[in-house]
Amino acid sequence: MKFYITTPLYYVNAEPHIGHTYTTVAADCLARFYRMTGFDVFFLTGTDEHGQKIYEASQKEGIAPLELADRVSEIFKNMWKRMNISYNRFIRTTEKQHEEVVKKVFNILLEKGDLYKGEYNGFYCVYCESYVIVEDEKNPLCPDCKRPVKEISETSYFFRLSKYQKQLEDLIQNTEIVKPDFRKSEILNFIKQGLNDISITRKNVIWGIESPTEEKYTIYVWFDALLNYLSGIGYLYNKENFSKYWPPDVQLIGKDIMRFHHIIWPALIFALELPQPKKIFAHGWWISGKEKISKSKGNVISPEYYINEYGVDPFRFFLLREIPFGLDGEFSEENFKKRYNSDLVNDFGNLLNRILNLIEKKFDGYLPEGEIDGKIIEFSEDIYKNYSEKMENIAFSESIEAIWKLVIYLNKYLDEKAPWRENASDIEKTIISVFYGIRNLLIFLKPFIPETCEKMSEMMGLDKKEIEKFENLKTKYSGRIKIRKREIIFYRKK
Ligand code: ME8
Ligand code: MG
Repeated sequence: MKFYITTPLYYVNAEPHIGHTYTTVAADCLARFYRMTGFDVFFLTGTDEHGQKIYEASQKEGIAPLELADRVSEIFKNMWKRMNISYNRFIRTTEKQHEEVVKKVFNILLEKGDLYKGEYNGFYCVYCESYVIVEDEKNPLCPDCKRPVKEISETSYFFRLSKYQKQLEDLIQNTEIVKPDFRKSEILNFIKQGLNDISITRKNVIWGIESPTEEKYTIYVWFDALLNYLSGIGYLYNKENFSKYWPPDVQLIGKDIMRFHHIIWPALIFALELPQPKKIFAHGWWISGKEKISKSKGNVISPEYYINEYGVDPFRFFLLREIPFGLDGEFSEENFKKRYNSDLVNDFGNLLNRILNLIEKKFDGYLPEGEIDGKIIEFSEDIYKNYSEKMENIAFSESIEAIWKLVIYLNKYLDEKAPWRENASDIEKTIISVFYGIRNLLIFLKPFIPETCEKMSEMMGLDKKEIEKFENLKTKYSGRIKIRKREIIFYRKK
């Protein structure tokens, strides 16, 4: 079984901030979850490098656009490395292979009659890289970002989006492609107002893929960028890989780019006569001071600070735990710290310390021999069921909530059995059972906080391999395991 997952390709005019990190960590978490379930996973991410916006950003710096793209795509790669992002491919839209695919698709659609030459008279927002309809033509502003927009009037190739109106309505009505569910009506209403064909070439933009037509144009940056989801797995040049992974199982995006992904993208797929993606999930925005966090608003929060101050895994954990995926959330250090201290320091980190200290004191560092409490086995099985269901619904924060029931249960179990007391009964059984419970937690939490789980498994004297697959939940331990050096992983923050 395969699982193909994608993130948007981020523009290279800005360095990665917590917004980009959010989508990419979420995709990584799902990719890891499905790998641990036994799927053959392909996880694609990368950078969007063409178009006027990038061109202007490079001009501002007085460098060539490709130089900017080279530098910033490298910064993205380094950030993903630090964040332990397990992508299979990082695609850049300036790669030859991708450019070839875009040109071929252009030709396919042209031959089919889905592209035609016309005249574009209207407005264009460089910031959104989008053709827009303005309210006031005297003072034309982008309806989305409210920036001044340019009027353009030029010949151009159009994509027959209108032709796919009915098919799109049916697709959205009858499948799971638009996620979360509450976004469906919004998209449907938009389509029902009527779709216009869209211009997909630009005459006066020099930084883009050249059209394969006689008269040279550059190809509209969104037409170029969306096709990465095809070229990234080998469309038209690696048939074997492409047929193995197509269609996407989950495509993650922010709600800012829904229309491109829930309307134009499926229409292009219809035009190419390919199966549609299973789910395209639009998550909410991280907000700061009531506004979307973005470079242009100047309210960017850099991941650096949180990585250095708290660590990569607490940062990953916070992003996915704090806000239900799909909704907006205010990012603040205060909330971060609260979550960190309560969940990771008090509940989870402390649980491991307690059990390792007990094993050290009572049994000289060796896990004793004996049986596991059936209640903990059963409870773990229930939690796994619940947790996997939530993950399949792309509900990260609810998944962690489910896992946390076991964390809380184990802490309480220890409190009640109090195996540190001289006259406690079932000391061995209690310790073995909690040890086993924690091992299960490490498996459940591995997609979220991979490095921490590996470190903890080492401290418990387990091989890293033993927490790599959900299948290993079946393995039970008793005796002979020697715990290793103990250290505090999460320090309380004031
Ligand atoms: O739109 N909160 O790239 P982009 C949550 N190149 N997520 C956020 C966010 C925030 N405040 N800010 C950004 C583009 N994101 C195009 C995409 S795809 C073929 C082309 C995340 O650099 C979120 O995933 O503007 C959003 O959709 C994406 O970054 C936009 O990145
Ligand atoms: Mg953007």
